[in-house]
Amino acid sequence: MSYENSARIINDDIFDLVNEYFDMERSSQNNESRVDFFNTYRDYFVLTDDGSYSINSKEINHKVETLHTSTGAISESFEKFIRPMKFNYSKDIAILDICAGLGYNTSAAIADFIKNSSDLDLQIDMVEISKATLACGLLVPSPIPEHDITKKAIEDELIKQDYASSSLEECEIPKNIDINVFIEDARQTVQNLADSTYDAIFLDPFSQNMAPELFSLEFFREFKRIIKDDGIVATYTSSAPVRAAFIEAGFNIGLGPIFGRKQGGTLASPKPEMLDYSLPKNDEIRIALSDVGIPFRDPGLNNPSEFILNERTEERHLARHNTKISSAVKTPIFLGDEMDDEKLKRRVERNLAKMNIPSTTSDEALYIIECEKKYSEKQDEKNNSTIRILDMKNRLKKVKKGNYDST
Ligand SMILES: C[S@@+](CC[C@H](N)C(=O)[O-])C[C@H]1O[C@@H](n2cnc3c(N)ncnc32)[C@H](O)[C@@H]1O
Repeated sequence: MSYENSARIINDDIFDLVNEYFDMERSSQNNESRVDFFNTYRDYFVLTDDGSYSINSKEINHKVETLHTSTGAISESFEKFIRPMKFNYSKDIAILDICAGLGYNTSAAIADFIKNSSDLDLQIDMVEISKATLACGLLVPSPIPEHDITKKAIEDELIKQDYASSSLEECEIPKNIDINVFIEDARQTVQNLADSTYDAIFLDPFSQNMAPELFSLEFFREFKRIIKDDGIVATYTSSAPVRAAFIEAGFNIGLGPIFGRKQGGTLASPKPEMLDYSLPKNDEIRIALSDVGIPFRDPGLNNPSEFILNERTEERHLARHNTKISSAVKTPIFLGDEMDDEKLKRRVERNLAKMNIPSTTSDEALYIIECEKKYSEKQDEKNNSTIRILDMKNRLKKVKKGNYDST
């Protein structure tokens, strides 16, 4: 896929309008009508419940999404990306903002930093594949004053890359805030970043079916290399393959905040004590035992999204009844349960039998989920989702091989 195509992320109409406008700005060397752009084309922008604006994506893998939740674009940044971080504002802070879009997550981080710290330094590295999307960040009304600081950093980079003509933003970037804007595929960027650099990584792509390449095991291995030991990755998704990939990449995981969604997102850190809440019990069981816990893979960090999706489908197919319990009818969540629904029970037990588990209440079943007896919503170093998932995975392997010891 060419850079131009992969960067054509936002709705085609806005993409063309924004590019046409900036072409005109460059050729006329006049940026005055930039201030009118939003009012002229405001119907192309999506107003969210807190008064901040979002935009629609183009159709990717047959889906269209808005860049932010309708519950509130800027509120989402504070709730999902800032609130769960345990920033230690007595030290300098470094943040990697992946999929920076309109720059709301960066702006929320700046606002929090300014509120809590005075003379220390903040470094934010923003990564966004699409110039037109960053340019939209210049065109929307700033939802908070700190967005003007982000706009200035975006504008500087767009001028440097000969996309915008000249400076319109009047805001000065404070001396203790250093913002770098990388306009490229985040998979390239991460490979060039230094080890143990970041206190926080914001991971805010479109959903896994649109952008599986930004949730892959190999991508997360790079995160593990560049994050500090007590750093936290935050992402809004509750998806099983994403959580499984974090664990396989060497992270601990915990439950993230719920905002504008039915389920909490995901937090990941090298240190378990940075993560306060366990995943829901059934999520742990499904990630550990069923084929939904198979991650997206992107060896070489350069595969197209359709390829990554198809490869995972194939891998799930091969793993089912072989190394993993089938995810059909959510089979593994019934382990340990007496089941009343006879029809469902027959289906569940047929799937279990293929993994050498005679029934939902057999010794084998109880042995596999033994650690779930210790489940608690609050988690700590010794009792947490990651330890339980790895334990159940291991026990399933033993049962399948027929060499487990239930005593
Ligand atoms: C959900 S939006 C992010 C919203 C953003 N965090 C904000 O504050 O406005 C997802 C963004 O990911 C960008 N994106 C998609 N693929 C990318 C890639 N491979 N590398 C970097 N950015 C990418 C899209 O252009 C889009 O702006």
